[in-house]
Amino acid sequence: MYILVPLVLIVFSLVLVSDGSQAFIAPITLSSDGGSYYTVVGLGNIFFRVSLDTASSDLWIMSSSCLTETCQKVPRYPLSYQSPTFLSVNSNSTAFNAIYSDGTSADGFVAKETVLFSNLTVPNQALALITSSNVSLADNISGILGLGFPRISSINGTATNSTPFFPGLAQRGLLQYPLFGLSLTRNDTGSLSLGAIDASVVTNLTNIQWNPVVEFSPFTNESNSSSYYQWALPLQGLTVNGTSVSLSPSYPSVTANKSIAIFDVGNPGIYGPWADVSKLFSSFNGARLVDAAAGHQRNFTLQPTDYIIGETSGDPGLCLAWPRALDPSPDGIDWQIGTPFMRTVYTVFSYGIDTSEPPMIGLYPLSNITTPESAALVSSLISSASEIFPTTLPNSLLTTPTGTIQFYSLNTSVSASTGGIVDTDLAFSSYSAIFGAATSVPDPSTLNLSAIALISPSPTLATYTVTDSAGALSTTISHITIPSIVLGVPPGWSSAGFVVRAPLLFGSLLSATLVSSLLRWTW
Ligand SMILES: *[C@@H]1O[C@H](CO)[C@@H](O)[C@H](O)[C@H]1NC(C)=O
Ligand SMILES: *[C@@H]1O[C@H](CO)[C@@H](O)[C@H](O)[C@H]1NC(C)=O
Ligand SMILES: *[C@@H]1O[C@H](CO)[C@@H](O)[C@H](O)[C@H]1NC(C)=O
Ligand SMILES: *[C@@H]1O[C@H](CO)[C@@H](O)[C@H](O)[C@H]1NC(C)=O
Ligand SMILES: *[C@@H]1O[C@H](CO)[C@@H](O)[C@H](O)[C@H]1NC(C)=O
Ligand SMILES: *[C@@H]1O[C@H](CO)[C@@H](O)[C@H](O)[C@H]1NC(C)=O
Ligand SMILES: *[C@@H]1O[C@H](CO)[C@@H](O)[C@H](O)[C@H]1NC(C)=O
Ligand SMILES: *[C@@H]1O[C@H](CO)[C@@H](O)[C@H](O)[C@H]1NC(C)=O
Ligand SMILES: *[C@@H]1O[C@H](CO)[C@@H](O)[C@H](O)[C@H]1NC(C)=O
Ligand SMILES: *[C@@H]1O[C@H](CO)[C@@H](O)[C@H](O)[C@H]1NC(C)=O
Ligand SMILES: *[C@@H]1O[C@H](CO)[C@@H](O)[C@H](O)[C@H]1NC(C)=O
Ligand SMILES: *[C@@H]1O[C@H](CO)[C@@H](O)[C@H](O)[C@H]1NC(C)=O
Repeated sequence: MYILVPLVLIVFSLVLVSDGSQAFIAPITLSSDGGSYYTVVGLGNIFFRVSLDTASSDLWIMSSSCLTETCQKVPRYPLSYQSPTFLSVNSNSTAFNAIYSDGTSADGFVAKETVLFSNLTVPNQALALITSSNVSLADNISGILGLGFPRISSINGTATNSTPFFPGLAQRGLLQYPLFGLSLTRNDTGSLSLGAIDASVVTNLTNIQWNPVVEFSPFTNESNSSSYYQWALPLQGLTVNGTSVSLSPSYPSVTANKSIAIFDVGNPGIYGPWADVSKLFSSFNGARLVDAAAGHQRNFTLQPTDYIIGETSGDPGLCLAWPRALDPSPDGIDWQIGTPFMRTVYTVFSYGIDTSEPPMIGLYPLSNITTPESAALVSSLISSASEIFPTTLPNSLLTTPTGTIQFYSLNTSVSASTGGIVDTDLAFSSYSAIFGAATSVPDPSTLNLSAIALISPSPTLATYTVTDSAGALSTTISHITIPSIVLGVPPGWSSAGFVVRAPLLFGSLLSATLVSSLLRWTW
């Protein structure tokens, strides 16, 4: 039968429905070079691996017009495909540039695309498509997903609604609570959750220590108010096997005599100022002292196998260990806490709420360490690790940092506090605050943590119960087949693609003192 269809314009739009269950989780994998943790995101219907970074705030992907060597070996966004969800910004002429501390850089232009993460769909997300770069990424990783504050984004402010990915979700109230959680393992069983905490890792929310994040004064070229800048905390103390290392903040008068540390999942090491790091290494043989931790502060302890990097090629018996010494940074950040520390905890990044609560970093220890690993275990793990490191790696024969304190580049006449309440750039103001005006570590038992959602990864194992013809029951457990996805190539698009089995579902001087000491951090 012929049906007369009235002529109407049907507009399909992607709408994010706020149904109170906005929690998302995806697996993250340690790259084979140990340099980064990556997850898979979709740009329209094209999938890419992106390296996670909490010390930058932009999403960028190599594009097909990037022909440099580092680009050619990874899947790239095909510019000629004309993705139906692509939206150009300023006729593709808004430039993007990112420069990294190792001297590499990425250049491109700003555009908007639909971004998929887990089963979350975000239309018109501002990002950068790279046209020239010497940033070298392993394992077919095509770009970086920055999870930092808008203040350090190059893209924020280049066009309307060009807020970074995670802050955009928080500012529009689209998550159950404005936070994300990171579980880092040495394989592909870690997770990134948005809006919720991974319940397969965190079994008791009361054991999370919540630390208010530090605000930073404005740069002299910025407006006159302080605001959140990096996921940074004051480091309260550091001990080597019980001996405390006295910390010398590089800018004591500006940072209230505190050493500021950033939590950076994009950093495969731990870095500190020369003054502190040299003291730390000299105390490996030192006397024992006990520092008194006050209030609700907790210790977070690294075992030798967490901080030892490996043996050197030049001098067998010589061992490299984190942290590596650096000259102080002119923005006042002394310590960079990367994945060797972050693997020992589950980390929650709570974004803070406009006018009602500061951003917080929640740390949930994965073990209760009281005694160091045995020297025999450490030695065997080090010698079984096939990797031998050139002696130019950290803490060996590197040039000694000058220790010169550079000119502090922030406007010190504007004060910045830890845990200050601000009224813009944090989450939607109608979220109900859990932490309130916390300016120091709150007692977790006083917090109403029930507003924090829990999410579990999908299982990778399925149990099949079979009844045979004789009526006997048998049970088999088998791995759920993980579908292969094609990286960098839209379905039906002809091009030599990168087919990769990517988990879309969860997969389930060797000094005696260096190998037998605990490195304890107090936040
Ligand atoms: C999508 O996310 C919701 C929570 O927001 C979850 O309940 C649902 O199971 C997820 N679906 C899939 C296919 O992962
Ligand atoms: C912007 O780039 C997209 C993707 O390559 C392309 O389809 C579009 O034609 C470009 N727009 C302009 C104005 O150059
Ligand atoms: C990367 O490229 C930038 C800009 O072209 C250049 O300044 C830098 O020296 C290069 N770095 C490396 C490590 O090749
Ligand atoms: C990248 O993907 C291709 C195609 O699947 C694969 O052959 C290659 O080994 C991958 N490279 C790395 C470094 O994982
Ligand atoms: C980000 O951009 C928005 C406008 O889209 C602006 O209101 C906000 O102040 C910007 N944030 C920062 C930190 O630059
Ligand atoms: C992956 O790492 C986790 C935590 O470190 C460990 O418990 C698990 O056994 C590892 N899984 C595989 C398959 O190696
Ligand atoms: C969770 O941890 C707190 C503090 O350690 C403890 O008091 C409480 O009994 C624990 N809850 C459960 C259900 O184990
Ligand atoms: C302001 O100064 C800081 C530090 O010198 C610099 O990183 C930033 O790019 C500058 N911002 C602008 C808008 O010039
Ligand atoms: C900051 O405040 C000072 C003094 O009030 C003023 O001279 C200066 O122009 C202001 N700077 C900016 C970037 O607003
Ligand atoms: C933290 O470590 C210090 C020094 O090792 C110790 O004195 C203190 O009791 C520890 N604090 C807690 C809460 O365990
Ligand atoms: C550490 O000890 C506390 C208190 O005894 C306990 O609640 C917690 O579950 C332990 N954590 C781990 C990872 O063993
Ligand atoms: C560190 O302390 C433990 C006891 O907690 C001890 O067994 C170990 O030998 C100490 N290591 C050093 C280097 O003193």
